[in-house]
Amino acid sequence: MARIPMMAGNWKMNNTIAEAVVLAQEISNHYEKEWRECVEIVLCPPAIGLKPVLTVLEFDRVRIKVAAQNVHWEEKGAFTGEISVPMIEEIGCSYSIVGHSERRGLFNETDEMVNKKVRSLVKGGLGAIVCVGESLAVRDEGRALEFVCAQVRAAFAGLEPTEAHSLLVAYEPVWAIGTGRTATPEQAEEVCAAIRATVADLFGAPVAAAMRILYGGSMNPGNAAALLAMEDIDGGLVGGASLDAKSFVQLVEACL
Ligand code: PGA
Repeated sequence: MARIPMMAGNWKMNNTIAEAVVLAQEISNHYEKEWRECVEIVLCPPAIGLKPVLTVLEFDRVRIKVAAQNVHWEEKGAFTGEISVPMIEEIGCSYSIVGHSERRGLFNETDEMVNKKVRSLVKGGLGAIVCVGESLAVRDEGRALEFVCAQVRAAFAGLEPTEAHSLLVAYEPVWAIGTGRTATPEQAEEVCAAIRATVADLFGAPVAAAMRILYGGSMNPGNAAALLAMEDIDGGLVGGASLDAKSFVQLVEACL
């Protein structure tokens, strides 16, 4: 089954509202009609930039979606500093990233919290881009596949196959994020194929065949084509290289 690739730019904690609007406008200026059916483009600015970025994209009538970088699993309540699924849904977000390794590592996000966030997004009718990935220590111990597949199982625990259509997985080896050290296409493919097999085990073969699995970790216009050529890699979740309009546009074009 043909999967439409996704190119998602994770801006992390970069770009003020003014800067975010400029970057979104630059990307929008390069938008080509032919991208419409061939690639799903997603921008993930910091929470306060979501609405301003979406306003730029809506004004230009380009088919570029917006995603939050994180979300809380409760709908509302005493959770100072958090935002909820209904809030990002109201803004017009299509997805949220969940379980990025920076959130797991720096903010103590556990598999259980990731699962609650995924279930909350599904319940709210939004998509989840679920990040998984092993540390260098785990890879060196030869446990990368086992570790990553366990993260996938934990993230999707309790979900039904009928709820899986809005889920994506982003394989982001921790040792490749922001380091300039990319997984080789073969290394990335090995893990992405194992992720797909895990999804098949959880939800059945048709769901696994339809689910997009992204690669993330120092993806750039120079290495994207080789990664995207792999059977089980259906796009990218890109940090550093998504902060420059020209290089992000090249990454989108690498998906065509
Ligand atoms: P990077 O980040 O492209 O800067 O390595 C990827 C990510 O963390 O999503």
